[in-house]
Amino acid sequence: MSKPHWRPARASDLPAISAIAARIHPGLPERPDVFAEKMRLYPEGCRVLVTTEEIVGYGLAHPWTQHRIPPLDGFLERLPDDADCLYVHDVAVLPDFRGGTSRAYVAAIEELARASGIAMLALVSVYATRPLWERLGFRPVIADAELRAKLASYGDSAIYMLRDLADRVTRA
Ligand SMILES: CC(C)(COP(=O)(O)OP(=O)(O)OC[C@H]1O[C@@H](n2cnc3c(N)ncnc32)[C@H](O)[C@@H]1OP(=O)(O)O)[C@@H](O)C(=O)NCCC(=O)NCCS
Repeated sequence: MSKPHWRPARASDLPAISAIAARIHPGLPERPDVFAEKMRLYPEGCRVLVTTEEIVGYGLAHPWTQHRIPPLDGFLERLPDDADCLYVHDVAVLPDFRGGTSRAYVAAIEELARASGIAMLALVSVYATRPLWERLGFRPVIADAELRAKLASYGDSAIYMLRDLADRVTRA
């Protein structure tokens, strides 16, 4: 089997994206229309991981405002005019195809951010993914009460993290 690679997502990829989301995030369900809205508002940030045969993962990101967290399964309505970060909504890859995939997706999003004059990446880490995101240069933000309330829909383990693109990330 060929090594999977990221390509821009298309509207016709939506059923595959939803199926992977349902499999990987059974406890954090989102409606297909919510994914579709992100693809419509910011296609540049939406990619799928493909082998020659099938879609095995997806990554969704969009311009946003630091310290603001879109509620899970909620519509964005519109993107901010004064966005100061690219917010990585989710990266999910089927277990058999992992290894280097989130690093490659984040590298593409970093390039997109720089090309758009945006100097920060943001995300909400769920499950136990904090070490993985730290490996990619993200740092946890100490959540005050307001941020904790916004994180609530993402479950107990959720942590808001930022990556300053001015920081050099060294690989051990
Ligand atoms: C998140 C996910 C896409 C990562 O896929 P992946 O192909 O394993 O990602 P990468 O291999 O690019 O990992 C990035 C780096 O983190 C490291 N890493 C992976 N898991 C790690 C862990 N548990 N602890 C510490 N570092 C870890 C990798 O070794 C890699 O570093 P390297 O490139 O220097 O070797 C995949 O695990 C997944 O789909 N998980 C379920 C969904 C999920 O939790 N998504 C994130 C929501 S916030």
